[in-house]
Amino acid sequence: MEVHMTERRRAVRAAVVMPKGGVGKTATAAALAWGLREHKKRTLVIDLDPQMADLSLVLGVDKLKAEYTSRELMLHPEHELAPVKLDEYVDLVPADPDPVLTEMRLGKETMVSGPVKLRRALDKVENRYDFILCDCRPGGGAVMANALVACKHIVAPVQLTRFAASCIVEMNTILSEVFDGQARPAIRYLPTFWTSDRESAEALEFVEENCRGALYGTRIPRAVAIARSMAEAASLFGSEFSDSKGAEAYRAFVEEFLLHTEADHV
Ligand SMILES: Nc1ncnc2c1ncn2[C@@H]1O[C@H](COP(=O)(O)OP(=O)(O)OP(=O)(O)O)[C@@H](O)[C@H]1O
Ligand SMILES: [Mg+2]
Repeated sequence: MEVHMTERRRAVRAAVVMPKGGVGKTATAAALAWGLREHKKRTLVIDLDPQMADLSLVLGVDKLKAEYTSRELMLHPEHELAPVKLDEYVDLVPADPDPVLTEMRLGKETMVSGPVKLRRALDKVENRYDFILCDCRPGGGAVMANALVACKHIVAPVQLTRFAASCIVEMNTILSEVFDGQARPAIRYLPTFWTSDRESAEALEFVEENCRGALYGTRIPRAVAIARSMAEAASLFGSEFSDSKGAEAYRAFVEEFLLHTEADHV
């Protein structure tokens, strides 16, 4: 049944993407999940990063016990969405515990119909949420292509080290491959692992010159509190981290994210 647009709420869809590994994608996705909860936004978090230190773990969910994962969401859209309810506001679709098969199957489907499975799956459930967030794994592949096509907003953490240049080059390569001249999602780079040393300053200068203005104003510092909150599966915005520079920065980033996506709320 067609639902009239004005009667529908549509979630803002965002993916945290960067082909380079260890740049703070999962830290950023976790901060967004915790931050949107603080802002009382109904959020569906989708973990597309099936590694050991994945977002499911950081949010306190054992993906090995989950019956419904990102695999069901992407490959079996006929199944009803069955996320883990983390609290009143945040639902989680945990990571696929066996991602190789999913990547191969999705790859085959992508060759036939394009990377549209995730977008179609989200179309069906987006009226239940204010936000839908995807955390991607490093590297490329069909799952990442599906996330890029499914989400209008891309948060791209760029590590302020000598790897900054390759972050931007790799991201542009992926975008060119997936979109091939077609309209791209709104991508915005988020500087991470910022320190007061020279390498960091030079990397920031490079990013500012090469990201064509698509940069968040917040710089996420290298901060023990960020790593600790993830390792302990405790919100960075909880009282034990309240005075930390890491929490302060990610809080500012969440505000910026809300501001940039505000126009999209229907
Ligand atoms: N700003 C930060 N300061 C200090 N440690 C951080 C920061 N951001 C992330 N970390 C830590 O660095 C490691 C890599 O971060 P994270 O897992 O967020 O990166 P990622 O881009 O998701 O990695 P992958 O590509 O492997 O998925 C983790 O141990 C995390 O706790
Ligand atoms: Mg990760």
